[in-house]
Amino acid sequence: MEGRFTLAPVGALALDVAAGLHQAAFGPMGEPTWTRQDMAGLLASPGVRGLLLEIGGRAIGVMLRRVTVDEAELLTLAVDPAHRRLGAGRALLAAAMDDVRQAGARSFFLEVGADNPAAQALYAEAGFRPVGRRAGYYPRGQGRTADAVVMRLDLL
Ligand SMILES: CC(C)(COP(=O)(O)OP(=O)(O)OC[C@H]1O[C@@H](n2cnc3c(N)ncnc32)[C@H](O)[C@@H]1OP(=O)(O)O)[C@@H](O)C(=O)NCCC(=O)NCCS
Repeated sequence: MEGRFTLAPVGALALDVAAGLHQAAFGPMGEPTWTRQDMAGLLASPGVRGLLLEIGGRAIGVMLRRVTVDEAELLTLAVDPAHRRLGAGRALLAAAMDDVRQAGARSFFLEVGADNPAAQALYAEAGFRPVGRRAGYYPRGQGRTADAVVMRLDLL
């Protein structure tokens, strides 16, 4: 399956697609989702770059990352709910790791919901390890929150 995926940068023409994927993935979790303007603002910030993962010319996943000197942060990773468990998340994360390594990063950080075992499993499989926790970091709707687990991968 992974051989059929292709990657494309999130450019100006793909902002709506990227925002739609973010909405579809995080909306059901009760998290605030990113609009086209949010995406545009982030992508205009220093060190930020995004990739779409496509199958048959259709985008089914998106990732944004920031690289600051030798440290990278995964800002978001989302796969369309109709295309889960096909290896898309793994392929996007691998692409993100290659991309930030090439940009000079030596460590890669991310935050993931303590209530999100699917994403934690994906990150652990790629070698990320928990290094901290932020209490009540994610809004989950109706006044509820979830802690964030901070994970780190050494890229050396
Ligand atoms: C997390 C997410 C990106 C995974 O995308 P995906 O394309 O379904 O992931 P993959 O098919 O590449 O899965 C790779 C591995 O991750 C783990 N994994 C993925 N989804 C899982 C699930 N629902 N339950 C348990 N493990 C899971 C498994 O180890 C899986 O390997 P396997 O299918 O061979 O068992 C996707 O579920 C998503 O977009 N979730 C909502 C947004 C989100 O949580 N993003 C991350 C926030 S930090």
